[in-house]
Amino acid sequence: MTEDDQLDLRQTLGRFATGVTVVTCLGDKGPCGITANSFSSVSLDPPLILWNIAKVSNSLRAYLAAGHFAINVLGADQRELSHHFAQSDHTVFKGVEYSVSEHGVPLLPDTIASFECRTRETHDCGDHFIIIGEVERFDSNDGDPLLFFGGDYRLCGNKL
Ligand SMILES: Cc1cc2nc3c(=O)[nH]c(=O)nc-3n(C[C@H](O)[C@H](O)[C@H](O)COP(=O)(O)O)c2cc1C
Repeated sequence: MTEDDQLDLRQTLGRFATGVTVVTCLGDKGPCGITANSFSSVSLDPPLILWNIAKVSNSLRAYLAAGHFAINVLGADQRELSHHFAQSDHTVFKGVEYSVSEHGVPLLPDTIASFECRTRETHDCGDHFIIIGEVERFDSNDGDPLLFFGGDYRLCGNKL
């Protein structure tokens, strides 16, 4: 594909609306967080979810090595957190409130859902790795989701 084709594909993929998550784990240099909208459910029995991480990510090694990670699903009022964890910076937890799971994984407060997972499989796939997790604990709260569509954040809490 040419660079133009890649841009077209990226824009076309962006027509698929998603929620926004911050995926967290404990790396050997401390807590890691990365904004990700590639989260998806996979299976209920066993309970499996997946997300994708770019091979160029500075925290790739930490996520591939982590035995546990958490998916923090952001609410409509958490756009700043999404911006924050889309930065390339290893001190990214500075100034961010969080608690810690029994496996040492950072958990963000006031999200609309969270899934604490054990890393089950990682797959090398193109320019990303697919990370599949088995859900060990989950929690949900009321609130509208933060959405991502066409390269922009969106709000929508309306039922059709
Ligand atoms: C809404 C949104 C969704 C994103 N989804 C992903 C994703 O699913 N996987 C990924 O690797 N990066 C994703 N990114 C980009 C990463 O958040 C960003 O490249 C990363 O935080 C940069 O830091 P790093 O190089 O330390 O990983 C997304 C960014 C935004 C704003």
